[in-house]
Amino acid sequence: MREQAMDAFDIEEMIPGFSAPRLRTWGEARLAMIEAAEQRSRQWHSRIEGPIVPGSDVHKREVCRMFHETFNPYRPSVLDWPVLDPEARQRILSLPIWDIAVQTEGKARLRMAAYAKTVSDPDMRSALALNAWEENRHKEVLSKMVEAYGIPLAAEAPYKFPRDAEWAYLVTGYSECIDSFFAFGLFELARRSGIFPPDLVDTFEPVMQEECRHILLFANWVAWHRANLSWWRRIWFEAKVMAVWGYLGWERIGLARTLDADGNKQQQDHNFTVSGAQSVSSDDISVHELMVLCLHENDRRFSGYDPRLLRPTTMPRIVRFVLRFMGARGNPQKAA
Ligand SMILES: [Fe+2]
Ligand SMILES: [Fe+2]
Repeated sequence: MREQAMDAFDIEEMIPGFSAPRLRTWGEARLAMIEAAEQRSRQWHSRIEGPIVPGSDVHKREVCRMFHETFNPYRPSVLDWPVLDPEARQRILSLPIWDIAVQTEGKARLRMAAYAKTVSDPDMRSALALNAWEENRHKEVLSKMVEAYGIPLAAEAPYKFPRDAEWAYLVTGYSECIDSFFAFGLFELARRSGIFPPDLVDTFEPVMQEECRHILLFANWVAWHRANLSWWRRIWFEAKVMAVWGYLGWERIGLARTLDADGNKQQQDHNFTVSGAQSVSSDDISVHELMVLCLHENDRRFSGYDPRLLRPTTMPRIVRFVLRFMGARGNPQKAA
């Protein structure tokens, strides 16, 4: 980027609430704007006073407002991909996740967009459409990375428009709740291990936080949607939710098999987020320590958002329950 000398750059005028030191170049200004957008995507509090009742109009409006106001405008095309030494490149190449990661983002985009189209409420429709757009941006980020490091990918099978858009959105949403919970812990483990270049970890940080926003939106959409269904639709919806959990369990114990565009069975790992600790760290970490780290990171990532908004609770509850059986008391420092 061409650096231009400036006497000063008053970024506070451009971004309300942001307090920056005096900036002398466009380069510094650009970095400050990226930093401000980063901060804004992690912190959000409603201006409404008093309780926000789940399912109410105020709840829906504030959730959607949160989603728009925490939007991070980073552009995949200008991300810097650090040069990797051969060992680091090989480590990245050997992670068994790139095919499934690219395809998951592609499916998520289509499914969310399909469901958004069916939503009659304009606030919620627009938030879900933005979520779909962000999934596509994740796919672009991954594509740029794959291109930069020469990672071979299986051909993508055509993405099918879902017949039942609500089912597809529920599968994607609950899937993200499971994967993000473990991904938060693994990402922190990878960052601490130092075996990946810090610049590469930094490049993925906004993507990781975006997944936190996505499951925050999803948890609140579920509550709002549920509260606004008639009793008979509600029964059907709860049955669907149970079936989705059943389906995800079936998928994750490895019974689901998918074919790539050439009809080959894919070597993909639906469980990497659960089993990938050894791939992202050279340190020995016990299952117990990893679970504690996941819980800690989950709480940390959500901590900046208004506590009156609902959080995904299933994975943290399951893991806390399992930890109790393992004799753990959840000291996050232990995993540090
Ligand atoms: Fe995503
Ligand atoms: Fe997402």
